Amino acid sequence: MSPAPSPGRWLRWPDGATTPRFAYGADYNPEQWPREVWREDIALMREAGVNIVSLAIFSWARLQPAEDAWDFGWLDEAMDLLHAGGIAVDLATATASPPPWLTTAHPEILPVTATGETVWPGARQHWRPTSPVFREHALRLVTALAERYAGHPALAAWHVSNELGCHNIYDYSDDAARAFRAWLRARYETLDALNHAWGTAFWSQRYTDFEQILPPRLAASHPNPTQQLDFKRFSSDALKDYLRAEREVLRRATPEVPVTTNFMVMGETKGMNYADWAAEVDFVANDHYVVPGPQAVDELSFSANLTGNLAGGRPWFLMEHSTSAVNWQPVNRAKRPGELARDSLLHVAHGADAVCFFQWRQSAAGAEKYHSAMVPHAGADSEVFRSVTRLGRLLADDLAPAAGSARQPARAAVLFDWESWWASEQDSHPTSLLRYRQEALDWYSAFLALGVRADVIPAGAGPDGYDLVVAPVLHLVTSALAKELTRYAEGGGHLVATYFSGIVDEHDHAWLGGYPGALRELLGVRVEEFAPLPDGESVALDNGTTGTLWTDRVEVIDPATEMLARYASGDLAGRPAVTRRPAGAGSAAYVSTRLGPGGLQPVLARLLDAAGVGSELPAPARGRVELAVRVGADGAAYWFLVNRTDEPVEVPGVAGELLTGSRVGEAGADGAAPVLLEARGVAVLRRDQAMG
Ligand code: GAL
Repeated sequence: MSPAPSPGRWLRWPDGATTPRFAYGADYNPEQWPREVWREDIALMREAGVNIVSLAIFSWARLQPAEDAWDFGWLDEAMDLLHAGGIAVDLATATASPPPWLTTAHPEILPVTATGETVWPGARQHWRPTSPVFREHALRLVTALAERYAGHPALAAWHVSNELGCHNIYDYSDDAARAFRAWLRARYETLDALNHAWGTAFWSQRYTDFEQILPPRLAASHPNPTQQLDFKRFSSDALKDYLRAEREVLRRATPEVPVTTNFMVMGETKGMNYADWAAEVDFVANDHYVVPGPQAVDELSFSANLTGNLAGGRPWFLMEHSTSAVNWQPVNRAKRPGELARDSLLHVAHGADAVCFFQWRQSAAGAEKYHSAMVPHAGADSEVFRSVTRLGRLLADDLAPAAGSARQPARAAVLFDWESWWASEQDSHPTSLLRYRQEALDWYSAFLALGVRADVIPAGAGPDGYDLVVAPVLHLVTSALAKELTRYAEGGGHLVATYFSGIVDEHDHAWLGGYPGALRELLGVRVEEFAPLPDGESVALDNGTTGTLWTDRVEVIDPATEMLARYASGDLAGRPAVTRRPAGAGSAAYVSTRLGPGGLQPVLARLLDAAGVGSELPAPARGRVELAVRVGADGAAYWFLVNRTDEPVEVPGVAGELLTGSRVGEAGADGAAPVLLEARGVAVLRRDQAMG
């Protein structure tokens, strides 16, 4: 048995330093370049303030050119050069992309799609998470690396594989089928239990032997929904199991070196249940790329916030983001002035103690040659490299006191639940237009617009400690969760739930007696039939907002329930749209339609008011500036003021010592002149906690 995961372990700096410092760097792929470039790389890294790189992520083919041939010479040299340059290494296990000799000898490691097509080599991550043959070869490589570099002084952390599940989360192969059956046996023990959970009385699906069960491959019509949900759970677990297998090899060889892997808490990446994975790593690491659109910055903040909470408030590692354009969007826009630093610092604001990019030097060849890097094709004489160097200095010098500080929890939170995400977006539902993460993001945007801090927390963390908790589309609610939320509200908490919440249990069976099922009594409303809206249709509310996507014919079952807004058009005109029921010492509100970030603002403002939660920002800054707070071991608070707009903003009334940023104009009553935030700018203040 290996020791239990020890959350809270951080990089092992080669110089033995224990005073917290920000890590700064990138994925480094020296194998793409001749030796003479390596020396220039080290010199430029030092100039930019780089103190860590992730190495060997896609190096399997170079490290093991044939089954029994190894070539570590080049990696030894790169590790030594980096160490001599004072740069630590987050060493990858190199298993992300199996080499051609392996897939030629063992095509049975290649994933298979739901329609039975083989996912061929030619790109990367073409391996089955459940393949015993792949695992045997991969762990052999991990063992060889772990043994060779165990004592290397540059080794600061291990980086398992890369973005597990980025391309291979769902595999429908025979290996997957076998592993799925084993997973189901462990979950249900008996076929009767499985038949009940899967509702196999429907469409003559009753199983009489576990061997009859398959992954949800291409079927004639809608595959069984619980089979689909379980396959999602299984697929996340299968990769988690693989992560553990690599980690065990690493822990055996180097118990003192922390192990991590880069999560993808971003956009619509939803296959991996990171709330369930977070305890498997010594520190949480995340990759984030900006999703273009009107909520781009909000989405970045949302992802960073959720990552910080997956890390339990402790520092986490931003393993990848981009200095400028990516290569995988339909149109890849360069970042505008200020965005490189603003995007990085927004992650830091939410607890990141490491800021790293994909990648160090922009590739000259390969699928990512148009993806930005710290050193672009143009070379070091470029605006990108100058911005990179400025950011390196900022992290190493000005912001140094904030390193190691923890996220300060907010008073409000948005619950985020992977199982509700999976279950609410399955097929054969009232609408195919529902987007779980979008609804959660809309609420978060409304908080930002009101200038009120809110945490994004995994649902399993529970609502306790928060004055107000929003549960957007909390679709899958077990009886235990329903009880927990009821206890929370009755104990003085303020719960807000939306449409399509409380509808099914853990088996994806509908709670009976009327919607919102498990939350009906708590919310004090009952709905007999859903009334989703077709794309392009909307409904007016009497508070001046507009609902889309969904409506409910809401019946109030507790007369104490307050009406916060009614429908004002269509068949539901005059009926409740937003309600709030006093529940014990707290309350439970229900929002029955999609209001979007703008429409949620007046509703949220009222709910916050009733819960006694206000903005910590001065009125002129609300909506234009995001505030995130970290707290140091000495009790000092670090206020990150992030300009969300493309115009300069002045923030009056914030006392404290500026670590970065400037003040303008006359001092106010508190003795402090307004803080000036340039367009997309960030200021960081150190404040005595007593300042409040
Ligand atoms: C990530 C991946 C990197 C690189 C990057 C490009 O998904 O881990 O290797 O491909 O995207 O944005």
